Order: sequence, then C-alpha cells, then structure tokens
Amino acid sequence: MASVDGVVPPERFPRSSGYDLAWQKRYMMGPNPLWLTEWLAEDLPIGEGARVLDLGAGTALTSVFLAREFGARVTAADLWVDPGDNWRRVREAGVADRVLPLRAEARDLPFAEGYFDAVVSIDAYHYFGTDDLYLDYLLRFIAPGGRLGIVSPGLARPVDGTVPERIRPYWQAAYRSFHSAQWWRATFESSQAVRVERADTLVDGWKYWLAWNEACTPPEDAADIVAQESAMLRADAGETLGFVRVIARNGAA
Ligand SMILES: C[S@@+](CC[C@H](N)C(=O)[O-])C[C@H]1O[C@@H](n2cnc3c(N)ncnc32)[C@H](O)[C@@H]1O
Repeated sequence: MASVDGVVPPERFPRSSGYDLAWQKRYMMGPNPLWLTEWLAEDLPIGEGARVLDLGAGTALTSVFLAREFGARVTAADLWVDPGDNWRRVREAGVADRVLPLRAEARDLPFAEGYFDAVVSIDAYHYFGTDDLYLDYLLRFIAPGGRLGIVSPGLARPVDGTVPERIRPYWQAAYRSFHSAQWWRATFESSQAVRVERADTLVDGWKYWLAWNEACTPPEDAADIVAQESAMLRADAGETLGFVRVIARNGAA
C-alpha cells in the first residue's frame, strides 16, 4: 500500500513537510492542500506583504501556509466553511495578523476592483470557474500585472468526451468539471485578457493523491466516495487523472 512517507518524500515538498501531519489530516477536505499550494508557489511569486485572495480556502490550511511561508496578507474566502471556525484555526496557527477569514460566494465577491496582487485557488476553482466568462469577472479584483494561480484535480490528457473504459465504473458525473492543462490554457487565453505563464500537470500527482487518500480517514459520509476515488486512481495509474496547474498574469501584454 502507498504511504505518505514512502510515496511523497519530504524533499519533494520541503515547506509542507514542516507542518504537523495530524493537523493536516484533521482539517483536510481533499487531496493534500499544502503540497498543491507548494507546487503552485514554485512558479507563482508571492512576496512578503502581498495581498492574496485564497478563493475556496476551505478550512484555511492553504491560507495559513501562504501567510507563514511567504508573509502574504491573505483573505481566506470560502462558501461552505464557517469563517468563525477558520478564525480559530488561523489564531491557533499564529497568523491572526495576516489572514482574514470570510464567507464569500466566488461569483459575488465583496472586494474592491484591482485590490489583490494574486488570487490563489486550490482544489476549488473547478467548482465555479469553468464558465467561459468567469475569468473576466475574477480579473476585476486582481491588480494589473497580478497573478491568478489555480491547482485542481484534472485530466493528464484530454479525453474528448469519452471516459476511458478502465475508469468508467468509478466515474462520477461531477468529474466532468475536470479538465486538461491544454483545456485550461485555451479557456484562459480565449479571454484575451491574460498571459498564461504555466499550464501543466504535476508529475506523479496521481500517486500523491492516492497516498493521501490512503493516509487519511475520511468522514463517514464521504468514505464511499473516497474509496471509489482511490479505486479509480489505482485503475488509472496516471493515464488520465492528476493535478493541473495554471498560472496567468492579468493583462495580455
Ligand atoms: C475541496 S474544498 C478545497 C478547500 C481548500 N482549498 C483545500 O484545498 O483544502 C473546495 C472548497 O471550494 C469552496 N467552494 C465551492 N464552490 C464555491 C463558490 N461558489 N464560492 C466560494 N467557494 C466555493 C467550498 O466552500 C470548499 O471549501
């Protein structure tokens, strides 16, 4: 069986490996959010004091990470998770002066135009951002030259509308929001409003995803879904599924 220690060596995600594993497991909502944020930040510059919107922040683990690792001033915006719970986690993590938790709907954001230096979205953008025109809306809140960086579960290669046979038994209708790096690049570029600096797939991402699933005990109401997901990842062995990263600079020039 895969294990976090055996499959995901600490040197692959050195910053994340400094965080308490029990804390990560307790508050996780999906594939390891710190690994995915660290991967994103490898190519998305976040300077000390940068204003960052963590969109779909969930339990704010990613916001804590961005504040601690890069000194960012983070707005942790999420729809489902109570901001009071996030505020408690943020205080316990010692970054109360750098993370503002709030409840927000990604399609109705309460921010000033051009306010953020970067918007980051981990394992969340595919819930609300696949609409053709969503990017145009979100860019309003990013300063000219600022960045949007997302990491979501996605396709290692396009499937052209046909789910490969070996993963068909496990496929859920909701996975139709999984897209390839090429798809995201084309969708973002079609806005003519950004320059896509990266659109790629995490090497061995499916192994990390599976290792994390196997290392965690999901809540009772999610156990079946996670077991199905793990079976699908095993059957697929990285042919079709993985993590996709897109980094775009606001402004086409
Ligand atoms: C799988 S969780 C990931 C959370 C966190 N980024 C992480 O990686 O741990 C997806 C998050 O997206 C948020 N989300 C989904 N639809 C949203 C929307 N329309 N507006 C804001 N947040 C949304 C949910 O509230 C949820 O917390």
